Amino acid sequence: MDSIGVLMTCPMFDYLEQRLQNRFNLFKLWTYSSNTDFFKNNSHSIRAIVGDTKIGADAELIDSLPRLEIVSSFSVGLDKIDLRKCQQKGIRVTNTPDVLTDDVADTAIGLVLAVMRRLCECDRFVRSGLWKKCDFRLATKFSGKPVGIVGLGRIGSAIAKRAEAFGCPISYYSRSEKQETNYKYYSNIIDLAINCQILFVACALTEETHHIVNREVIDALGPKGILINIGRGPHIDEPELVSALLEGRLGGAGLDVFENEPEVPDQLFGLENVVLLPHVGTDTVETSEAMADLVINNLEAHFLKKPLLSLCRV
Ligand code: DGY
Repeated sequence: MDSIGVLMTCPMFDYLEQRLQNRFNLFKLWTYSSNTDFFKNNSHSIRAIVGDTKIGADAELIDSLPRLEIVSSFSVGLDKIDLRKCQQKGIRVTNTPDVLTDDVADTAIGLVLAVMRRLCECDRFVRSGLWKKCDFRLATKFSGKPVGIVGLGRIGSAIAKRAEAFGCPISYYSRSEKQETNYKYYSNIIDLAINCQILFVACALTEETHHIVNREVIDALGPKGILINIGRGPHIDEPELVSALLEGRLGGAGLDVFENEPEVPDQLFGLENVVLLPHVGTDTVETSEAMADLVINNLEAHFLKKPLLSLCRV
């Protein structure tokens, strides 16, 4: 397959890049960004794109590659891929579901414990030597608290399972009620926010879920409420979140994702009730390797005309 051109749109995990390099004729878009002749010289060789959550495949890129057959995303989220364009042009799209579910759910639980039990603040307290002068202030209990989940897909369900083990009653909001669970269903996200203390955002980013957590939802969650986002930044109206935290209208937040990554609103840096992560929900060696294998295996299956492992409906 070393004559098949594959375009990587941004630097990714080394193991993935190495494996692509060994298997295909690999082009790296960031290497050619100052070379305006790149597309003129190479666009006819490229038959696949590998993108991720930073840069996927937009309409312009897709249109500039006349032989493009497949976009394979190193992510479960497909929000950086122009799915409509792929559908119009009959381009196949694959992603990396399942293999990352546990890590993202673990990250969500890590965030809620970090926020409620003030773990990052505790660490700063010990490192600064303050422990020798005074005791640390009390935190808030997580076990047993009512949890709400926005989106009960694979990741939402894995968060629910973990929260259940902490004795938390679980409720959820999604487009439709899931028959296979006993969790309480709300058809309205505001009702869910009123009835839980911790709200996890775990749905896919679509036009419908953009800013699904707006001021009304944040106010429904209230000053004791904790918001955890392991989905995508644009799920939350970020300026509204910042105002609510600054004004004490929300109890705290744990955020792995932001509206304009890697930009993070400066006002959050001074807040002790906020834990900020650099979009690392899937970033373990094990999961990154499994995701990379899935990307490669999907590409190989496509070019060998075998069934794809994780074909997305576009
Ligand atoms: C995903 O796979 O969509 C994750 O957000 C990657 O970090």
